[in-house]
Amino acid sequence: MRLELKEVTVVLNGKEILKDLSVSFGPGINVLLGENSSGKTTMLKTMAGLIKPSRGRILADGKDISSMGSKERAKLIGYCWQNPYHGFFEENVKREIDFILKNTGAKGREDVLDILGVKTLFEKSPFKLSGGEARRVSIASVAVADQPFLLMDEPFNDMDLDGYRQLMVLMKKFRGEGKTVVVSLNNALMLEALSPDFAVVLKGGKIVRYGSANELKEEELERYNIVTRRAIVESLGRGIES
Ligand SMILES: Nc1ncnc2c1ncn2[C@@H]1O[C@H](COP(=O)(O)OP(=O)(O)OP(=O)(O)O)[C@@H](O)[C@H]1O
Ligand SMILES: [Mg+2]
Repeated sequence: MRLELKEVTVVLNGKEILKDLSVSFGPGINVLLGENSSGKTTMLKTMAGLIKPSRGRILADGKDISSMGSKERAKLIGYCWQNPYHGFFEENVKREIDFILKNTGAKGREDVLDILGVKTLFEKSPFKLSGGEARRVSIASVAVADQPFLLMDEPFNDMDLDGYRQLMVLMKKFRGEGKTVVVSLNNALMLEALSPDFAVVLKGGKIVRYGSANELKEEELERYNIVTRRAIVESLGRGIES
């Protein structure tokens, strides 16, 4: 199942944010890299149907998402917010999870809740969670509905080492199940570990690079203003010393 953008332009408040994007994401782990303001979040929200493109179309498994009702779309495509608190609206975590299951009619997957360890948080208000707890609940309360397309906006943010491990277990599982996962990243630190099937680099709302991820060299990513391990170890460290 593929998620395809065809000549997609997005204008927000009179400003062109995404410019004529055409790209196709297939099963496996896809990464979307780009500096701050490059358009990653806007692109993911548009792919989830939360922002309407001014021009162009988005096809999920060949079907235009603008022709779908919100329920049909929610069943097919999950979007995990960059700011987890923006996706919350219920009084406790259990109700956040129940809401998406009711909305999509999905059976719900216990394994997602177990891997992210959110069951112990069920009675808590989502708005009172710590940053890492909120990230886990935000991802769990979307992915529990088992959508074939899953869009994750900077999912590693706020996570401790256990959180990274939990996310990697999920990614591996989803890849094995043939889901089409698109993960946005504002740095390249997890790129090697993720070994994505496909990578896209955005700059100024345009795709400047797409293709196989193992061709992406750190020097090239740094030219696009993306943090790499090399930059942290080499150039940033020297900045403090001098
Ligand atoms: N509703 C809006 N109205 C006007 N401009 C917007 C709106 N939403 C986003 N933008 C602008 O669109 C550009 C891209 O924003 P976006 O959030 O997509 O970037 P991003 O790549 O996700 O950045 P970050 O790495 O900081 O999360 C920014 O210049 C932002 O200010
Ligand atoms: Mg963003």
